[in-house]
Amino acid sequence: MSKKRVLTGYRPTGRLTLGHWFGNLLNMRAMQDDYEAFYFVADWHALTSDWQDTHAIRQYTEEMVLDWLAAGIDPAKAVIYRQSDVPEVAELSMYLSMVTPMTWLERVPSYKEQREQITEKDLGNVGFFLYPLLMSADILICRADVVPVGEDQLPHLELTREVVRRFNNQYGELLIEPKGVIAKEGARVPGTDGRKMSKSYGNAIYLSETEDETRAKVMSMITDPARKLKTDPGNPDICPLHQIHKLVSPDPSAIAEWDRCCRAADCGCVAHKKALVEDLNGYLREFRTRRAELAAEPGYAWEVLAAGAERVRPEVESLMADVRRAMHVDAEL
Ligand code: TRP
Repeated sequence: MSKKRVLTGYRPTGRLTLGHWFGNLLNMRAMQDDYEAFYFVADWHALTSDWQDTHAIRQYTEEMVLDWLAAGIDPAKAVIYRQSDVPEVAELSMYLSMVTPMTWLERVPSYKEQREQITEKDLGNVGFFLYPLLMSADILICRADVVPVGEDQLPHLELTREVVRRFNNQYGELLIEPKGVIAKEGARVPGTDGRKMSKSYGNAIYLSETEDETRAKVMSMITDPARKLKTDPGNPDICPLHQIHKLVSPDPSAIAEWDRCCRAADCGCVAHKKALVEDLNGYLREFRTRRAELAAEPGYAWEVLAAGAERVRPEVESLMADVRRAMHVDAEL
């Protein structure tokens, strides 16, 4: 039986964090063996919200690809490409806009939320309104079966499925209804302040930062707020230090011991932070070495993207030929 297809995209918004590592990268790395994998940089999606400040998109694209590669995403297995290298995505998105009622886009929850909450950017542009359809086009153009995403993206997958049904109903069964999946284990890595790790909260640990930077962040992390003194018993279940340590420690018995001594007020948070610094830096060492090697080869990320664009091209051309024919916008031969 032929392999199913997995596809996912990231907006190039900066270097990747420990949250991405456990929330997506491990999953993407595992899936490239069992699926035909398509992983792309959604640089047009970055434009929809950051059209007033586009200067960093190219640099972030490169950084993201380096992070993927250092994390073990293998260009010999996964097709790694950049959205803007596949302009047919815009064409498909335009065709999808013909069958999509405006009301469907107006009621996408992230649209309303972000319009209300993000006040420092102008999101009144048509491009931002069309964000979900562009995402649908990304998915459908590669005939993806499975799309791993963050929980906040599931409504976009639902919209995509509705659009597929309407399109297929009108023009024939030619688009595939994709299934959205959310990463389970470690999907929510806490940041240094205990909230979800996110660049915008300023609480992120970056995969590619230096050991000293990681040390400084870990040493200033918050722990169980009820544990003011070393003699106060703590609750590891609500302590971000413990949550991260569990994910990166090579030794489950050490974790059990930190858990015990925290509850018994037998050990202090500073000692525990020092232990986490060692384990976390140890956990990321191989990644960081590889990342530095890759970054030392100028242009490598762009070569990978160019090769990926070549590989995705036949898929795109075959799907687009079907779509144009079905909609009678191809040439009559
Ligand atoms: N909207 C996604 C995000 O912000 C990024 C994205 C764009 C995407 N196109 C996609 C994810 C297609 C999955 C499939 O995370």
